[in-house]
Amino acid sequence: MADIIDGRAIARQLDEKTKTQVDEMLAAGMTRPGLVVILVGEDGASQVYVRRKIKACEKVGINSIEHRLPADASQEELLALIDQLNKDPEVHGILCQVPLPEHIDTRLVLRSISPDKDVDGFHPVNVGRLSTGTGGIVPCTPLGVMILLQSVVDDFVGKDAVVIGKSNIVGKPVANLLLDAECTVTVTHIYTHNLPAICRKADIIVAAAGAPKLVKGDWVKDGAVIIDVGITRIMDEETGKEKLVGDVAFDEVQHAKAVTPVPGGVGPMTIACLLANTVQAARALQG
Ligand code: GUN
Repeated sequence: MADIIDGRAIARQLDEKTKTQVDEMLAAGMTRPGLVVILVGEDGASQVYVRRKIKACEKVGINSIEHRLPADASQEELLALIDQLNKDPEVHGILCQVPLPEHIDTRLVLRSISPDKDVDGFHPVNVGRLSTGTGGIVPCTPLGVMILLQSVVDDFVGKDAVVIGKSNIVGKPVANLLLDAECTVTVTHIYTHNLPAICRKADIIVAAAGAPKLVKGDWVKDGAVIIDVGITRIMDEETGKEKLVGDVAFDEVQHAKAVTPVPGGVGPMTIACLLANTVQAARALQG
């Protein structure tokens, strides 16, 4: 039977480490880390995510402020707010929840956040730093994927890693992180020819295509490690209730060395990594 990688437990451990770092900063006379989350409009899912992020800050001792703007707020208003937060020495992390309303240029807004306070790691400067292996803030979900992998992989050097999915927020950064760890990385996607054969060679599979149960049992070699980033809401025909499914046919991959469940795998790591990034930014900004 494959080991199940417990994302909730590993996220809790990371939160404890983050809390200790906050305590150490305060003991050293530094300013308490501060995160501002900006929410524009009334999107229901975004409200839930933002509430979770704010609540998580409390647990580790990070100051958090939620800035809400109405759905018809102008782009200028949002840019002015970000400009003010960029200059505020008590603010170390700025997260602007996406999606933004259609009249706002999302790329422009994300680029206006200071790279040093960009705790999402979405700013092109941070993307560049990651792709050149020169530090910077790593996006939360890819960072979470690497921490989960580190919990079961002793030595990454020379391992064959296959990433399924080429998004800017997961696939591409995960591929860069695996390269930095000295893996041989193949980046694939749903149009890749011979995807099952490519996966069968992998020591590590990171599935982030958003395609429910794409990765079948016979795509996975014995002893591989699988991280399932996919999370799709589907109707369970047996119970008539909604359920979450990943990109991996979980029941078919029990010959793997280890696999993350959905839910309870990558999901809990994302917010824990946001908190860790906020503390990293607060330390860097305070020299
Ligand atoms: N919307 C959904 N997930 C995220 C995230 O990680 N960061 C931001 N800024 N918006 C999101």
